Amino acid sequence: MTTPTDSQRMEKIVSLCKRRGFIFQSSEIYGGLNGAWDYGPLGVELKRNLKNYWWRVMVHERDDVVGMDGAILTHPEVLRASGHVEGFSDPMIDCRSCKAHLRIDQLIDKKGVKQCPNCGGKDLTEARQFNLMFETHLGAAADESSIAYLRPETAQSIFVQFKNILEVSRKKLPFGIAQIGKAFRNEINPRNFTFRSREFEQMELEYFCRAEEGMQLLDYWLKERLKFYENIGIPREKLHAREVPDDERAFYSKGTYDIEYDFPFGRQELEGVAYRTDYDLSQHQKASGKSLEYFDEETKQRFVPHVVEPSAGVDRTVLALICEAYAEDQAPDEKGKMEARVVLRFHPRMAPIKCGVFPLLKNNEQLVAKAKEIVDLLRPHMTVFYDGSGAIGRRYRRQDEIGTPFGVTIDFETLGEKDASLRDTVTLRDRDSMKQERVAIKDLPSILRDRIA
Ligand code: GLY
Repeated sequence: MTTPTDSQRMEKIVSLCKRRGFIFQSSEIYGGLNGAWDYGPLGVELKRNLKNYWWRVMVHERDDVVGMDGAILTHPEVLRASGHVEGFSDPMIDCRSCKAHLRIDQLIDKKGVKQCPNCGGKDLTEARQFNLMFETHLGAAADESSIAYLRPETAQSIFVQFKNILEVSRKKLPFGIAQIGKAFRNEINPRNFTFRSREFEQMELEYFCRAEEGMQLLDYWLKERLKFYENIGIPREKLHAREVPDDERAFYSKGTYDIEYDFPFGRQELEGVAYRTDYDLSQHQKASGKSLEYFDEETKQRFVPHVVEPSAGVDRTVLALICEAYAEDQAPDEKGKMEARVVLRFHPRMAPIKCGVFPLLKNNEQLVAKAKEIVDLLRPHMTVFYDGSGAIGRRYRRQDEIGTPFGVTIDFETLGEKDASLRDTVTLRDRDSMKQERVAIKDLPSILRDRIA
């Protein structure tokens, strides 16, 4: 078998995502909406597993972080103060030949002459700034006074609620506020499947601290976040921590790392970990006229806290999980002959369905009844899929293709027909090793819970 090129691999992944119900093009029956995607039954489970695990490690398992869920519609003054109204833009150029709108960094440079990447045209407009925010109007009056924006990052609602949350949570520095939610950017060219979308979801933590702790916490959060990706099944060697150089960093940031992943379409950013100094809180304090200071009871000092921000993309990470999990290998068919299989090797923690349950024969009432009992036993603890139709090998293959890590088969041994000592035991199959072990039904919930925790 020839090694597939990266673009072939990406095509197979996109096709699997649609075929098995992970990700669909938004508004597909109307020709699609560029830069927007819908998650199907399996995609939504994968996405929830990712978000729940992030929330667990970033909020529930820590004493120093609380959560919030802010509005998407944002007051224009918030985004004026943050600098987004004035400066959140990409330089854009149009190709006069094919009418494509292009980001300046997409142009091809041929011996010093810039060309359109679509048609090779050289008749290009001057660069102009294109603001990436989506503007809307609140209420019936569509005038200047009714303008609001869809938030371009979840971070700003955290900064704006800093004082309220400080008061109600009674946290002491350093402490963080976490949020998962939608954000919107009118990208000039959405591309690479879900990687660069106009509507997307973020998982952001704003970790407030004293100025002197900023650089050390930047390093701390970089390490924590790298650990997170390893814990969801992305190997360290495919992750890269890129220190963003001075000329690429936001002017207010004293240090930023991009955590990048080797996608089939190239190395791209999953998350930014940025030391944003006291810029955001100071800007909002100035613009709103409300104090956003912290009072240190020990030193009796009042000051605007600094902030370190790990900001991760949900959709990008889901895509990385799928790309990382996708594999083609060989597995035995019904007769033990090896055949090609497509398998998603998700970390069990992320897998949309944790366990398949299969009666050996679909028309044996006792096998089916036992299988349904096992479904009821496991369902309170995990996502389970019952499949009674087709040859058992086919059923394994269907679950392998969606990344189900475990499969339970109920056979005649389970009924104690051949050997009474095997009554109420089942075979437990592992997706990756394809090894089967015999386990007691009553032990299944705890065995599986340990493996998917
Ligand atoms: N809050 C950082 C970002 O959205 O990129």
